Amino acid sequence: MTKVLVATEKPFAPAAVGQIKQIVEDAGFEFAILEKYTDKSELLEVVKDVDALIIRSDKATKEVILAAPKLKIIVRAGAGYDNIDLEAATAQQVVAMNTPGQNSNAVAELVLGMMVFQARNQFNGKSGTELKGKKLGIHAYGNVGRYVAQIAKGFGMEVFAFDPFVKDELIEADGVQVFHTAEELYSNCQYISLHIPANEKTKKSINYDLLNRMPFGATLVNTARKEVIDEEDLLKIFADRSDFMYLSDLVPDCKEEIAMEFEGRFFFTPKKSGAQTTEANINAGVAAAHQIVRFIKDGDSKYKVN
Ligand code: 3PG
Repeated sequence: MTKVLVATEKPFAPAAVGQIKQIVEDAGFEFAILEKYTDKSELLEVVKDVDALIIRSDKATKEVILAAPKLKIIVRAGAGYDNIDLEAATAQQVVAMNTPGQNSNAVAELVLGMMVFQARNQFNGKSGTELKGKKLGIHAYGNVGRYVAQIAKGFGMEVFAFDPFVKDELIEADGVQVFHTAEELYSNCQYISLHIPANEKTKKSINYDLLNRMPFGATLVNTARKEVIDEEDLLKIFADRSDFMYLSDLVPDCKEEIAMEFEGRFFFTPKKSGAQTTEANINAGVAAAHQIVRFIKDGDSKYKVN
């Protein structure tokens, strides 16, 4: 019998798990789950006899893929698939997919939530600032960026975007103004929200030169990946610009240095929380389960990324 494993170090909401199980069992497949595992060895053990795997930010390394000789498909219930070794998957004829768009609204709500929190001095009682009328630059206009734009417009922000892969007309149709270079975006916007994936081109691409272009009150919001930030440059901009603030859903490696010297100018969620809502878990988990069923039964490989 086809066996589908949900392996999530950071569990889905129970309602999402229930729905995934239902879809898998309705298809006549066996459902298995490994949650909150603390050691890679637990994952290596349970993948031994599975045909399909649903993960979140869990690392599907070559070792994991090789430990699963029956594996045919891995679905990352979420957008970014930088946690899957695509080369190893392809070599083992394992299809890798993501579920684009399914958790995007949750991430976008967190972006604006962190911005309000910081604009109000982390609710310390001192007089803060408002988002209305401020300029927000969206770096990469995919599913999350688009939701961020919508919500920010509701706050009365002026919204701009830079994304060389998205047509100007599509961005402009949302009432968002287009910049054609990252330099222009950063030079004009007090707030920047990052939505770029982590890959060889983008790693460490958010550097001193870009950040130093930002106007007074520069606030960088990162719900993308920590790897896209040049952390040496991040520390330098914190030191050089007393107005610079950094809000992130990804704890940087240099957290201790930032915490020691720049109190009140940063916020890091203790655990990555962007997609951590019941709604996002249901959307992404259910999509992943349906994609697996369609792939195993009909060979449908929509959303394949390798
Ligand atoms: C994504 O790429 O979809 C987000 O980073 C969510 O990651 P998570 O499922 O680990 O919360």
